[in-house]
Amino acid sequence: MPVDVLVGLQWGDEGKGKIVDVLAPTYDVVARFQGGPNAGHTLTFGGVKHVLHQVPSGIFHPHILNVVGNGVVLDPVVFRQELQKLTDRGINWAANLYISKKAQLILPSHRALDRISEDARGGSKIGSTLKGIGPTYQDKIGRTGLRVGDVLLPDFQQRYEEAVARHATLAAFHNKELEIEALEADFFSAVEFLRSLQLTDTEYLLNDLLKQGKKILAEGAQGSLLDVDFGTYPYVTSSSTIVAGACTGLGIAPRHIDKVYGISKAYCTRVGSGPFPTELLDEVGEQIRKAGSEFGSTTGRPRRCGWIDLPALRYSIMLNGVTEIHLMKADVLDEFDEIYVCTHYEYPDGQQTDHLPDHGDLQTMKPVYKSLPGWKTELQKLTDPQSLPAELKDYVQFLENYLEVPISIVSVGPDRVSTLHLNYR
Ligand code: GDP
Ligand code: IMO
Ligand code: MG
Repeated sequence: MPVDVLVGLQWGDEGKGKIVDVLAPTYDVVARFQGGPNAGHTLTFGGVKHVLHQVPSGIFHPHILNVVGNGVVLDPVVFRQELQKLTDRGINWAANLYISKKAQLILPSHRALDRISEDARGGSKIGSTLKGIGPTYQDKIGRTGLRVGDVLLPDFQQRYEEAVARHATLAAFHNKELEIEALEADFFSAVEFLRSLQLTDTEYLLNDLLKQGKKILAEGAQGSLLDVDFGTYPYVTSSSTIVAGACTGLGIAPRHIDKVYGISKAYCTRVGSGPFPTELLDEVGEQIRKAGSEFGSTTGRPRRCGWIDLPALRYSIMLNGVTEIHLMKADVLDEFDEIYVCTHYEYPDGQQTDHLPDHGDLQTMKPVYKSLPGWKTELQKLTDPQSLPAELKDYVQFLENYLEVPISIVSVGPDRVSTLHLNYR
């Protein structure tokens, strides 16, 4: 079965981009299946850091076909900027990039509506990246969206104007105007650029490649706890971020899926609002933020930091059928004397559970921790997985026992080379 899927197990930014880049040499295709420019996937190699938003993270490997699937919402303006940056860095992407004609188009008015609806939420803001994600998926589900393939139709301009007129009435409901005139020239020139790319029915392309025996890596964006169904609703994104989303977001049948890589930090972060039971609002949280440079790749916002949450991870593993875990950013905990892991939650009456509580309960329940000794070793210097400090091996073992899934990679730095494959065991 030639399709493997890589998903974030937490609230995003687990290090998915880095691992796609590390695994890419063994695949023929990397395909994004959901999300859009709300994603920021960082890859570091050769002393250079690259941040990708909509371009799949296989783009730096010349042998890989990169596919933007139908489940994605695509902002042509951001896409053109990203591709221009790649060109400036000498990357030849043109022949290796395909975009689904069925992917949804993010319009300037979607971005405007994102801000208007976020402002209207008053004290319960989502903390959206304001890239237009929610309003674009709303149009998709409402069957009023414009798709990438529509840019090839003679009446695209008219369809665009109809969409904007509809969006203006939604803005008017909030007593607001869209204010998009200044953005439209740029949008239309980016649409013109989009027309010059390989727009196709990528579900046929991918299934033909499968028939030829090619291997596909499906690259998830966001994280399982931001999934529109199973995440901490309503503080979620608007797409299916779990493995099931790879089938609908690419047009690949479930029977083709083999491995599911679950990406998790050795601790936990979240950007934006919403429950985060193990969040550390003290100097320990600050220390993690500093050591891990925990600032958003897309918005630059400081990420909220806390200890690893095992009931939440177990929930994500269950939803995704994870077959192996990649434990990221272990080096960020190098300095800590003790590492804490949340093993369950406690209700105010003393009852305990290891199920992820729903939103209301999360406000009152307290995480219960186990502490493990820190390794106090500079992990980034290690290149041999066998030389991992005993305390880190114990930490990995503890997580594996609890989660009942093997940890196959420990990542100890942002660079491609700072990746320890635990295949000696
Ligand atoms: P993604 O959205 O899941 O691809 O993750 P991001 O790129 O948004 O955030 C992960 C951040 O951690 C990026 O700045 C990466 O360069 C960095 N990173 C990834 N793996 C490691 C690691 O093992 N150690 C350290 N220190 N940084 C890492
Ligand atoms: P990657 O792929 C972390 C969060 C936002 C906000 C919520 C909804 O880099 O892991 P949206 O713009 O989707 O309406 O925002 O989801 N969010 C992310 N957090 N990493 C991401 O992507 C995210 N994409 C969205 O901060 O709380
Ligand atoms: Mg990110």
